[in-house]
This record gives sequence, structure tokens and C-alpha cells, in this order.
Amino acid sequence: MIYNIVGLIMNFLVSLIGYLCSIPARAKGMKFGKKSYIGWGYDFLFSSMKGVIIDDDVLIGRDAWIQTINNNDTNRDGPIISIGKSSRIGRSVTISCKKKITIGEKCLISYNVSILDHDHYCYELRSPVESGLTDGEEIIIRDDCFIGAHSFILKGVQLGKHCVVGANCVVTKSFPDYSLIAGNPAKLVKNIKCQTSEQFS
Ligand SMILES: CC(C)(COP(=O)(O)OP(=O)(O)OC[C@H]1O[C@@H](n2cnc3c(N)ncnc32)[C@H](O)[C@@H]1OP(=O)(O)O)[C@@H](O)C(=O)NCCC(=O)NCCS
Repeated sequence: MIYNIVGLIMNFLVSLIGYLCSIPARAKGMKFGKKSYIGWGYDFLFSSMKGVIIDDDVLIGRDAWIQTINNNDTNRDGPIISIGKSSRIGRSVTISCKKKITIGEKCLISYNVSILDHDHYCYELRSPVESGLTDGEEIIIRDDCFIGAHSFILKGVQLGKHCVVGANCVVTKSFPDYSLIAGNPAKLVKNIKCQTSEQFS
């Protein structure tokens, strides 16, 4: 009985702290579904979070940097970051969006992962500080993907359902459903579905 009451109080406190943490993000335009939280320490002072839409039961670890950049006319609808139901995002994630970044349902994004749908212009003989950013190229990470720690997902990448990205990968191109990829640049190591069907046949 006493444990049930303590459990209820703990749950309430966690929800309360989670809600309080989310207030600056909400004020900057981020939308949260039910039972979705972001940990403390995220960047909100200098980042826009308008267009960031988090579905229900999503947990984002501390020290995140999630931003939308809307400084030109090529993307009239504005940048959109959407994170699907029950996904888990580790601490110190960077998600920076000029066009559209979609993360599916029940994805596990480990710590220190960066997902960036644009670049700095690098084909001009000006400082990157002055030449600015390229247009965004949409990134899609479909349901049930696992992105290993310290990985980079670069502009235009699409990962199919249930892909696994090894730790420390730089993903520069797209891969179909059930790909296990690793390395820099990331290459196909195996097809998970073939492996599991071999094991259980
Ligand atoms: C990708 C991963 C899941 C594969 O695990 P696995 O199925 O046991 O695969 P194996 O260890 O058999 O490796 C298969 C091949 O891929 C290579 N490989 C595996 N992970 C790699 C990585 N992160 N980078 C480069 N190559 C990698 C292996 O060297 C091996 O190559 P080989 O066949 O030429 O010897 C695992 O290596 C990994 O990186 N996990 C992520 C860990 C992580 O970030 N955890 C955070 C927890 S929240």
C-alpha cells in the first residue's frame, strides 16, 4: 500500500518536473503530445522551436539542441521536425532542420546523435560564417529504427523501417527497410530480416 502511494507521488513529481522543463520549449513553439518530456539543459535561448511536433509518450534526454531555421522563402510552409509516438531520444541530441525531418514511431536514437538536413555553403571562397546555409533536403527515419551513439545523419537521408545504424556512423545516403549499416560513410553490413529468418528457420 505504502509503495503504491510513494509510486504515485514519484510519478506525479516526474510529470510535474517534466512539464516545468518543457515550458520554455512550449513558449518557443514546440508542441508536445501526452506524456512526452524533454530533459533539462536544452537550448532554447537562441533557437526557434516552431514547427517541432512531438507525438505522445516521447522522451528526449537532457542537453538537446532541437531547432528549426526559417530564414528564406524557399520553404514556404516553414521547417517541420516531427517525432513519432513512443520514440526515445538520448541526451545531447542535435536535430537541426531547414526543411523537414521526420522520425517515426518507437525509434531509439542514442546519445550524441546529430541529424542535420542542411549544410554550410562550402563551394564559395567566402568564410562559412558569411556564405550561410544551403537549402534543406528532407530526412526521413521510419518506425523502429535504432541509431547508435555519436552518429550523424546527413541531408536527404531516408532510412527504412527497422534500420540499425552502428555507433559513430556518418550516414550520407539512404537505405531500405531492415538495413544494418555501419562505418564512415555508412555501408550496408547486413539485412536484419534475412538474418532473423535464417536464425528462426
Ligand atoms: C551495429 C551493431 C548493432 C552491430 O552489432 P552486431 O550485430 O553484433 O554486429 P557485429 O559486431 O557482428 O559486426 C558486423 C560487422 O560490422 C562491423 N561493425 C559493427 N558495428 C560497427 C560500427 N559501429 N562501426 C563500424 N563497423 C561496425 C563489424 O566490425 C563487423 O565487420 P566484419 O563483418 O567485417 O567483421 C553494433 O556494432 C553497434 O554499433 N551498436 C550501437 C551501440 C550503441 O550506440 N549503443 C548505444 C546504446 S543507447
